[in-house]
Amino acid sequence: MKKVTAKAPVNIALIKYWGKEDEEKVIPFNSSLSLTLDNLYTITIIEESNSGFSFTLNNEIITGNEAEKVCKFLKHFASPQEIDKVRVVSENHVPTAAGLASSASAFSALSIASNTYFNTNLSFKQLCEVTRKGSGSACRSLLGGFVAWDKSGEVYEVYSKYKDFILISVIVNPDRKKISSSKAMAATVKTSPLYRYFVEENSKAFEALKIALESGNLKEIGSLTEKSFLMLHGVMMATNPPVLYMNELSIKVIEIIKRLRENNLYAYPTMDAGSNVKILTTESDHLEVIKSLEANGFNNYYISRLGDGAKIIYEEDC
Ligand code: PMV
Repeated sequence: MKKVTAKAPVNIALIKYWGKEDEEKVIPFNSSLSLTLDNLYTITIIEESNSGFSFTLNNEIITGNEAEKVCKFLKHFASPQEIDKVRVVSENHVPTAAGLASSASAFSALSIASNTYFNTNLSFKQLCEVTRKGSGSACRSLLGGFVAWDKSGEVYEVYSKYKDFILISVIVNPDRKKISSSKAMAATVKTSPLYRYFVEENSKAFEALKIALESGNLKEIGSLTEKSFLMLHGVMMATNPPVLYMNELSIKVIEIIKRLRENNLYAYPTMDAGSNVKILTTESDHLEVIKSLEANGFNNYYISRLGDGAKIIYEEDC
């Protein structure tokens, strides 16, 4: 029985990617930079099947579009006949499709599991090229720590002098998002009059964040993070029709963060294609941040630290 198990982490972008210059190859308009989390991840098993291809996600057999997407992705590694002889079983240890980047960990895990199972032996560069076809941001989950996905396609770890960051993911709505990031970003690129500023500003912020990480300039790291997410949601709102992922609870969390900063605590917000808010804070300040969240009724959250990239955790071939 042949079986491969992969584990891939969630990553949260501090400098956001939103929009493809090349839809087919998934080349972004601007470079992005993320933080890999240690305790939110996807586990994906690929194993031999005698009953044809199937895809199970969180203990539920998936059919239709989602299963087809997995099947299509596997074609980068195997022939249709080979795909018909496997089952893919995935478990997201993170709320699925709620702006917590479960598709990044999912495609990153599927990618490395497939590369090993089908003996494709892709180089890291080729693996990145394929992984980002599942979900653009998934290529950043291949590595740990701070990770850059350069506009040129290169994915690499970025040195950070300071490592005791904490990322708190505040779940204000665990439901699936109503509009996929792929569709939403294509609409933004096409219709948002702010798009070119988003690309220009984030390209500058990407370079600035690398410098700030290198020198350990915490204030600058936080401000660049906050600015990038505000630009993301601004450019989304200016899309026609508007793309609105924020809700009143997201705004409430952002206001709490603002108050914490006024009290000299380190806390900066970021959000992706969903209503949940992530807070970048530090080991020394995070308990105060949590106290304040709980005092305001936000009891559903995850506390993460910097984590490792995707890896194969089990392999059997007999
Ligand atoms: O990975 P995708 O194609 O689903 O896009 C995700 C984009 C954001 O999460 C909103 C930003 C990012 O850079 O991760």
